[in-house]
Amino acid sequence: MKVRAKILLIVGARPNFIKVAPLFKEFKKYKTIKPILVHTGQHYDFEMSKVFFQELKIPKPDYNLGVGSGSHAWQTAKIMEKLEPILLKEKPDLVIVFGDVNSTLAGALTAVKHNIKIAHVEAGLRSFDKTMPEEINRCLTDRISDYLFTTEPKAIENLIREGITKKRIYYVGNLMIDTFLKHKQNILQSAILNKLKLKKKEYGVLTLHRPENVDNKKILGEILESLKEIQEAIKIVWPIHPRTKKMIKYFHYAFLIKDLKNLIITSPLGYLDMLNLMKQSKFIMTDSGGIQEETTFLKVPCLTLRKVTERPITVDVGTNIVVGVKKEKIVKVVKKILAGHIKKGKIPRFWDGKTAKRILKILNKKLKNGKFF
Ligand code: UD1
Repeated sequence: MKVRAKILLIVGARPNFIKVAPLFKEFKKYKTIKPILVHTGQHYDFEMSKVFFQELKIPKPDYNLGVGSGSHAWQTAKIMEKLEPILLKEKPDLVIVFGDVNSTLAGALTAVKHNIKIAHVEAGLRSFDKTMPEEINRCLTDRISDYLFTTEPKAIENLIREGITKKRIYYVGNLMIDTFLKHKQNILQSAILNKLKLKKKEYGVLTLHRPENVDNKKILGEILESLKEIQEAIKIVWPIHPRTKKMIKYFHYAFLIKDLKNLIITSPLGYLDMLNLMKQSKFIMTDSGGIQEETTFLKVPCLTLRKVTERPITVDVGTNIVVGVKKEKIVKVVKKILAGHIKKGKIPRFWDGKTAKRILKILNKKLKNGKFF
């Protein structure tokens, strides 16, 4: 009887849930591996967390740290403090962390201090903007990881330039696409368009949550002003993130979006409704990283409301345009799209629904007597 290796997976925020889901189906094929799921509780509202577990059939976490919201130092430290006894008790052979949120770095740091091997899914992405909390999380997590799973070739270049040896880097593709393909039928059955009284390709979607946008009074004001003008030309659906809702109130900006007849504001949507809404939209304006990738796969025009992207393949190969945060530019690009100037895109290599398979195949090969080497 082979020794079973324990893999502890750490998730905490919405995009992590979408990435962890497809791994569970694959785990079933490997009798040599026992997965243990830890939810840090970074996201905790039903529509930010539980709805993803339900819709994507992610197993109930073995542990929920229930950490909740707070400052960066507080949240990171709290996750580490609560995770450490679990690592000591479970003694996992490998920890897997995802993406670039505070739970990612906190999980990796706690593991490395106990000499536990780390796999980082979505390694090597760089915005080269150190003011973004995600950039710090990415760089530091990569630095201490043993297996670096990448979604695009530029990520490999970034890691090599930072001195990470090639043999630790694996190009595996994008787990978010595995999730989309697995749930495609259910996504297509979502009734969200009926519910919001929308017609296919006759609306745009907005998502906004990055602190550099929504915590900045001038930038948030500029984006809301552009929204006012855009919704005169086409309906805009905006599932609003709790951080953004809070900041609109804080800056007394409610007046800017009040009484806009073509602006439909909703609570954060579950996965199936959101992907259906995205798939059938004319275009999407966003500052999310994951949505830049999903729109590239869906071949829906994406306007990234940021100065840079850490996901250049979505621009070079996909449908993404980095438009920045100036009102004139945002409105100009939307008008071009409405006039029929639509950027055609291709789907990047390995964004094919088989990324979870690749990851587990690699990890299984690295197993010897229940230990990863
Ligand atoms: C976090 C990630 C970000 C990711 C995003 C996805 C970090 C540094 N940021 O940003 O990279 O793109 O998740 O959504 O890890 N809140 C609620 N309910 C919740 C969760 C949060 O009301 O379930 C509110 C709280 O007021 C909180 C604020 O949203 O203070 C921000 O939450 P937090 O997890 O700190 O960061 P996000 O902006 O969600």
